[in-house]
Amino acid sequence: MKMKNVLLSLFMLTSVTVADTARNAETLFDKKCGICHIKTRPVDVSSLVAPPVMGIMRHIKMEYPEKKSAVSFMVDYVLHPSKAKAVCMPQKIRRFGLMPSQKGNVTKSELEIIAAWMYDNFPPTGFNGRQGKGAKSGNQSCSGGCKNCNN
Ligand code: HEC
Repeated sequence: MKMKNVLLSLFMLTSVTVADTARNAETLFDKKCGICHIKTRPVDVSSLVAPPVMGIMRHIKMEYPEKKSAVSFMVDYVLHPSKAKAVCMPQKIRRFGLMPSQKGNVTKSELEIIAAWMYDNFPPTGFNGRQGKGAKSGNQSCSGGCKNCNN
């Protein structure tokens, strides 16, 4: 009986921790990355300073479908960005510039939490670049802004 209680409280503790981690991850993202990367679909693409998260994650998952490799790619990229590694298309890097290294702004362990949260939550179901609403073929203002994006 006592054991059962212990297990129950352990279980409750774990679920609280999981929910907290998700909330902390989003707060961390907002603080460390949200200044440049928006979490919503852009209304005005011309006001963007960096690709939105849904576009980034769409393209990262094309190159790195596994969570583990996607997360380690992001952790590395954010600390050591380079043109050669980028999943973003050259014209996006020309437009936004290469992402400045976030070394000093974010730690590796914070990044692991942020990257896992990005992987788990983006792109939202049904997101498919700018195909559909408002998309024109040959449109250079693809909101995703990354490789393999033909909009
Ligand atoms: C000062 C603005 C700025 C901040 C802050 C910033 N980024 Fe970026 N990020 C960019 C720009 C610009 C690009 C597009 C160019 C590129 O890919 O290097 C980008 C691209 C990316 C990419 C795609 C890389 C690729 O393969 O092309 C990832 C992943 C990313 N950012 C994650 C993050 C995370 C996680 C944080 C927070 C820890 C963050 N960024 C903070 C500006 C920023």
